[in-house]
Amino acid sequence: MTQKIRTAVFPVAGLGTRFLPATKAAPKEMLPVVDKPLIQYAVEEAYAAGIRHMVFVTGRNKRAIEDHFDTAYELENELAQSGKQALLDLVRSVQPDDMLCSYVRQPRALGLGHAVLCAEHLTGNSPFAVLLADDLMMGPPGGTPVLAQMAEQFYRLNNSVIAVQEVPQDQVRRYGIVAGTPAGERLMRIERMVEKPAPEVAPSRLAVAGRYILTPAVFEQIRQQPRGAGGEIQLTDGIAGLLKHEAAYAYTYAGKRYDCGSKEGFLEATVELALAHPEVGANFRAYLKSLKV
Ligand code: UTP
Repeated sequence: MTQKIRTAVFPVAGLGTRFLPATKAAPKEMLPVVDKPLIQYAVEEAYAAGIRHMVFVTGRNKRAIEDHFDTAYELENELAQSGKQALLDLVRSVQPDDMLCSYVRQPRALGLGHAVLCAEHLTGNSPFAVLLADDLMMGPPGGTPVLAQMAEQFYRLNNSVIAVQEVPQDQVRRYGIVAGTPAGERLMRIERMVEKPAPEVAPSRLAVAGRYILTPAVFEQIRQQPRGAGGEIQLTDGIAGLLKHEAAYAYTYAGKRYDCGSKEGFLEATVELALAHPEVGANFRAYLKSLKV
């Protein structure tokens, strides 16, 4: 029987060098897009997929993320006493009562695979999700969020499911790239996976986006990996090892990805989410139209 996905792992221990100096003292996952930090978008996506246990793999700048998902007594008191009920509800909604948060430290930034391994004792012998919050994922308007789409596939297939999207040939070296055989609508059974290949040797243009649902067998495979591209322990190499023992699928999600780890992607997300925002959208649209660009 397919086991339920109970845990989501959020690796938030990267250095965020592409966003310095903003990330000098604060994790990049706390950068806000309009009015919510990136990490909250990802946690809400996991919650919408039915997951209630959130595991954050943190690094040296962990305080802000822990505080964000904790009770803010002073703030809540102030808001309650001044009768600002709507704001109080907003603040409290960040951590629903049935959501559990755990924190584990990655002592050194040894790569995404290593970060996921740090969460092993908290996920148990069960399938789990990995969400990279700097990939901000928007499902189709009014439709199913991306991780929930993937969970549907996982419960049908009972094998690991990895989110992918097609990228231009000249961008393949920025991503993990997968190749395999078609296995249904939006699905491909993965045969090969390579991290950041040169365009000449890339097996396809299907790039891994920052959402994974993995079986626990991946931990052993990550452990067996030598340091890969850039001296880091790569999650992609661990998943490639998994393919020798069980099937895994690439799922071309419906929706849009914003690479908020890069300045351009972050700005695109800010503009598009601001335009769609119920409170500021209309005025912001008028403002953009007034610009002579
Ligand atoms: P990135 O490749 O975006 O690296 O990591 P980074 O260090 O965060 O950012 P840049 O490239 O220096 O600007 C992808 C994800 O993996 C996490 C990051 O926090 C990010 O969510 N990560 C990466 C870790 O948690 N630990 C690591 O050792 C490496």
